[in-house]
Amino acid sequence: MTRDEHEVLTVADYAGGFGQGEQYVEVFHGVSFGVRRGALTAIVGETGSGKSLLALSMMGLAPESFTRTAGSIHFNDRDLSALREDEWRRLRGAQLSMVFQDARAALNPVITIGDQLIDACRAHRKVTRPQAAEIAERALRDVRVPEPRQRMRQYAHQFSGGMAQRVMLALALICEPDVLILDEPTTGLDVTIQADVMELIVDLARSHGLTVCLITHDLGVVAETCDDIVVMYQGQVRETGGVADVLAGPQDSYTRRLIAASSFTEVAA
Ligand SMILES: Nc1ncnc2c1ncn2[C@@H]1O[C@H](COP(=O)(O)OP(=O)(O)O)[C@@H](O)[C@H]1O
Ligand SMILES: [Mg+2]
Repeated sequence: MTRDEHEVLTVADYAGGFGQGEQYVEVFHGVSFGVRRGALTAIVGETGSGKSLLALSMMGLAPESFTRTAGSIHFNDRDLSALREDEWRRLRGAQLSMVFQDARAALNPVITIGDQLIDACRAHRKVTRPQAAEIAERALRDVRVPEPRQRMRQYAHQFSGGMAQRVMLALALICEPDVLILDEPTTGLDVTIQADVMELIVDLARSHGLTVCLITHDLGVVAETCDDIVVMYQGQVRETGGVADVLAGPQDSYTRRLIAASSFTEVAA
């Protein structure tokens, strides 16, 4: 397996599943794709195809009951399966960061937003608490949370879904990671707010030079914002390529069905 030097993440023949022996159920049947540095890569596919588990695997956060049986995930040429837990902790946040679907559930309900940002910052950067507080306030301003200083004293339940998702973005970005993984970051938000949050994500990605993996089922968003696309179906990659190419001329039957089933039609027509 040769790795493209521009790939920051390389998933190669990745296989694995849950359970032991006779009870083993395979989820990934040999998944391969690469994520180009600085690109926005969409991972699409129906529910249950393995998108979230793949994201968690890339973060070293797959459940204990999951076993990798073959293949590898490399991050900047490092084999992630070889990492110890302390190496993972250094990598996570500082280099690889993730935003989960349900922002409010991912935030700590009993710690102020400010303290969560400050703690995240100090976990990876040698800064004093006042310096971290300044960085935290700037991070909230970057994700366009109004009145960030006042907001830092509040708790997750005092934030709307859209504002909580912005806080999650600030948390994910506060240590200036190279790669940001977003798992359906706008699902569950009001449609009008979804567009704002997506626009913010794309702006931040481009201005910070981030590499982004965006898990989404919205092909309209993919067409508008992403560079590359990975189409997953039942634990396999069915098609990968540039977004414009794949959406205009899908080679795989499942990709064609996905395009036909989505409300998105312009490019597919
Ligand atoms: N903790 C778990 N235990 C057992 N099976 C799981 C677990 N997490 C996910 N799975 C299974 O792995 C498959 C992929 O799930 P997931 O990655 O959540 O899909 P997606 O995010 O694409 O909807 C599904 O069949 C799901 O049932
Ligand atoms: Mg999922």
